[in-house]
Amino acid sequence: MDKKEFSKKFFWGASTASHQVEGGTVNQWSVWELANAKELAKTAEERLGELPTWDEIKSQAEDPKNYVSGEGVDHYKRYKEDFDIAKKLNLNAMRFGVEWSRLEPEEGKWDDGAEEHYRNYIAELRKRGIEPFMNIWHWTVPTWFDEKGGFSHKANLKYFYNFVQKLADAYGKELNYTITLNEPNVYATFGYITREWPPQEHSYLKAGLVYWNLIKAHKKSYKILKSANPSMQIGVAAQLANIQAKRPHNFIDQSVTKVMRYLWNWWFLHRIRKQQDFIGFNYYFTDYYKYFHRDNPHVPLSDLGWYMEPEGLYPLLLRAWAHYQKPIFVTENGLADMHDQYRQWWLEESIVAMERAISEGVDVQGYFHWSLLDNFEWKYGWWPKFGLVEVDREHGMKRTIRPSAQWYADKIKKIS
Ligand code: BGC
Repeated sequence: MDKKEFSKKFFWGASTASHQVEGGTVNQWSVWELANAKELAKTAEERLGELPTWDEIKSQAEDPKNYVSGEGVDHYKRYKEDFDIAKKLNLNAMRFGVEWSRLEPEEGKWDDGAEEHYRNYIAELRKRGIEPFMNIWHWTVPTWFDEKGGFSHKANLKYFYNFVQKLADAYGKELNYTITLNEPNVYATFGYITREWPPQEHSYLKAGLVYWNLIKAHKKSYKILKSANPSMQIGVAAQLANIQAKRPHNFIDQSVTKVMRYLWNWWFLHRIRKQQDFIGFNYYFTDYYKYFHRDNPHVPLSDLGWYMEPEGLYPLLLRAWAHYQKPIFVTENGLADMHDQYRQWWLEESIVAMERAISEGVDVQGYFHWSLLDNFEWKYGWWPKFGLVEVDREHGMKRTIRPSAQWYADKIKKIS
């Protein structure tokens, strides 16, 4: 690289989510895990048997324990050790989640210990020169909120606002960056249409209501947070896919691509465009549409069987910039790769993609790899390995830096 595209202020980070790493979380998702673990184990081969990694993951995927978040990777207790590792990796930013069910385990009853925990958590990041990016909602909610119907009822939003107000009062002054919501489109689709996730309903109406209410939730949260700290920069972590026409000159492929881009990528972001200081998005997927279906190349695939095209980040950055002209953060980006055979390549392509976009005037200000640690991958459980840092849950939760992470650390040093 001849010319330096990344400024000194660029945020090189990694991302986590409370439920996926903390351990000991009790929320609607942990309840669902316990109720569904056996069934998920029993049906594993049906769902996953086609994966190239099936032979290697079979014993884990057929074990009900795999589907229970349980002790997580004990990040709730080991966060300082994990921040030391992040520091060692030359990271200067970290996206983390706060767990609503810890802070308000019962309606209206706040847990001072949990509040103190996240205060220390933020302070420990700062102490190491790591900028905290707090994420408020990453799909999990307290069971009492879920029992009231969660985000499908507009009347329930007041509970979410109380939670956001609590965060604003407690940490508002400590934070320069906050992300309100993670991937509302994925949550509404998987929870209320495809029935893959709790609450496993199939209702387009409900999916629409949830999606709509999450727009409201973001807008009001934006106001609450801004009044606590007017200089705080606020956005969401949207799930954007690099959607392309399989046959570039085919009218149907082109039209479907346009519609899908609008519905999946931009619809939500357009509605909150005035209440965003930055555009945050998670990038995992490039999807080619042939007629009305995805038709992706068959290689290279991640351990989850997802087609990998890391360079697809570049066109997405350009399009996000063209739409909004606001600073951009890649709030998540990564792959399931237990043998660490693709991660370095993925990182390198992602860095080049950002560099290209910056060279064309796109204001990319930070990159958060998913994830800092191996973690609980929702309905798949523990076998997918997304961590820069491997965690051995069988042997005292031992942390080991993967070779690709070391490469990332060296690269950050060189280019920043
Ligand atoms: C989610 C993460 C998840 C990752 C990999 C993202 O959509 O925000 O929680 O672990 O994808 O599937």
